[in-house]
Amino acid sequence: MNNNLDTLYILQTSELSVSYGKTKVLKDISIDIYQNKITSLIGCSGSGKTTFLRSINRIDDNITTVSGKIYFAGLEINNPKINVYELRKNVGMVFQQPNVFAKSIYENIAYALRYHGMSDKDEVYETVEKSLKQTSLWDEVKNNLAKCALELSGGQQQRLCISRAIALKPKLLLLDEPTSALDP
Ligand SMILES: Nc1ncnc2c1ncn2[C@@H]1O[C@H](COP(=O)(O)OP(=O)(O)OP(=O)(O)O)[C@@H](O)[C@H]1O
Ligand SMILES: [Mg+2]
Repeated sequence: MNNNLDTLYILQTSELSVSYGKTKVLKDISIDIYQNKITSLIGCSGSGKTTFLRSINRIDDNITTVSGKIYFAGLEINNPKINVYELRKNVGMVFQQPNVFAKSIYENIAYALRYHGMSDKDEVYETVEKSLKQTSLWDEVKNNLAKCALELSGGQQQRLCISRAIALKPKLLLLDEPTSALDP
């Protein structure tokens, strides 16, 4: 396997298997994902697409057993030395079901920006605005940024989740059927 990921691959797995209890859902998956490309995973319902994506930013650490290797930008991520918060900043994820926080629309995006060190208020505001524009949500919410995100429609919540993910400029963005609630 080529572990020189700087040039070609953002993600590689090698004989990756993932189990929930005794049920093995993914078996010996070896896959190379190119940098700066869009890669689609297609499979029938229950085939393990979501499980695969969730294993990449280690969301299911407590409920799955993982064997094999996952390399993100050259680093093996199932390594105790990996800082998972840093990993998740670089590996953004938008889930199949919108998962906004019970906070304002603005805070849904700004919180993570500040958490990861953006302290300039103007820069935070500009980044929130830009990422909301990128999902065409800005015009619908710009006069209501303090409103609780739970009051948005399903599709608006989904777009907020996409905005939240892209605001952090992740190196890899995992999108789990993120447009299922959206108009074309
Ligand atoms: N938290 C869990 N605990 C136990 N089994 C699970 C869990 N999550 C998923 N599974 C099982 O793992 C298998 C793969 O599920 P997964 O959600 O990864 O499929 P999927 O390809 O994303 O399906 P869909 O297209 O319906 O979203 C299914 O058999 C499912 O029942
Ligand atoms: Mg799924």
